[in-house]
Amino acid sequence: MHVRTLIGASALALTAALAAGGAQAQGASISISCGALGQELDICRDGAEAWAEATGNSVTVVSTPNSSTERLALYQQLLAAGAADIDVFQIDVIWPGILADHFIDLAPFMDGQQDEHFEAIVENNTIEGRLVAMPWFTDAGLLYYRSDLLEKHGFEVPTTWQEMTETARAIQEAERAEGNSQMWGFVFQGRAYEGLTCNALEWIDAFGGGSIVNAEGEVTIDNPNAVAALELASTWIGYIAPEGVLNYAEEEARGVFQSGNAVFMRNWPYAYPLANGADSPISGNVGVAALPKGGEEGKNTGTLGGWQLAVSRYSEEQEAAADLVRYLTSYEEQKRRAIVGAYNPTIAALYEDQEVLDAVPFFGDLYDTFVNAVARPSRPTGESYNRVSAEFWEASHNVLTGSETAEQALADLQSALERMSRRGW
Ligand code: GLC
Repeated sequence: MHVRTLIGASALALTAALAAGGAQAQGASISISCGALGQELDICRDGAEAWAEATGNSVTVVSTPNSSTERLALYQQLLAAGAADIDVFQIDVIWPGILADHFIDLAPFMDGQQDEHFEAIVENNTIEGRLVAMPWFTDAGLLYYRSDLLEKHGFEVPTTWQEMTETARAIQEAERAEGNSQMWGFVFQGRAYEGLTCNALEWIDAFGGGSIVNAEGEVTIDNPNAVAALELASTWIGYIAPEGVLNYAEEEARGVFQSGNAVFMRNWPYAYPLANGADSPISGNVGVAALPKGGEEGKNTGTLGGWQLAVSRYSEEQEAAADLVRYLTSYEEQKRRAIVGAYNPTIAALYEDQEVLDAVPFFGDLYDTFVNAVARPSRPTGESYNRVSAEFWEASHNVLTGSETAEQALADLQSALERMSRRGW
């Protein structure tokens, strides 16, 4: 997708919306960029409109590309131009260090509300003492499985990636033999973009291979455990995962799983109410577990994801925009979003709220997975993070396509990242 087209499209939408907003004599007109995976845009709009109604302001919701990588490119263009079009930006957990200069310090507007949120995320969003974004929802990679198929074929939920590979293959073959020629064992995010960075980091960390760059900023990716993890993943293509997975992002993986054509899926929590929704063909047969370990010695690891809300320094309505952020990140609104969309709250108390736990039982069962999720190295690599990630997802993609061995790809990646670090992250 071309950024220019996107800017053109959102500029058009904005012009129309601003014209409409102009009809309302009082109140601020705030525009907010929201993600649009599954029901995300509708859920964002409902929240923003409730705020607008309660405060006498008006709000425009601008949809952004699903790929985090494309979304960053769009934001960078808009912000570099100092555009006032978007007041509130939904930003990825890995971006505060990259985009901090474009956002205002929200602390003076939050009435201390930030203290209710997970401290690690607030710290992540604090750059040089400024709270550049408020935590909105967090997430971590999860293993989705078809409970009916595991039961039918007599398998347990796999606890290691090796076991996942075997179970996926066995059920795929058995189902195909029964006439379901579309069946695959495992779908995930294999496209060359930020989502693959999340997936590959999960495999590597599960095998004890670290997190690409350590907390001290040293490059650690070239190690035997990381090689072993990528080697196993490279066997999946065409064996338990369709070739097409090399171009899948979140929604493509969900599409295959939800239509009943995959035994396992790696995805974020948002997929749960959709896969299990009344109109889903696999409703009632969807289980969720922690992602497997890299062998008996390994550990269960999900990559830490999540989204924040930030107010543009170029906004002409900063106070109203910050008030919208305060509202959307509040206890009540995070509770609503957890119940209707399985968006993980960033307020610890909500994980003890019975209504939330009834709606999304795995928030309780997998609480440890969420709080122990592995962070991508965006803190130590700061403004360079996106380039580090791009090198990593390219290397991982090359291993999956078979164009490079894991050993070669990670040795080359180590050198490329070391060169980058010598110039200063
Ligand atoms: C999810 C995560 C986000 C991550 C993205 C990658 O949206 O919340 O942190 O960067 O997936 O595709």
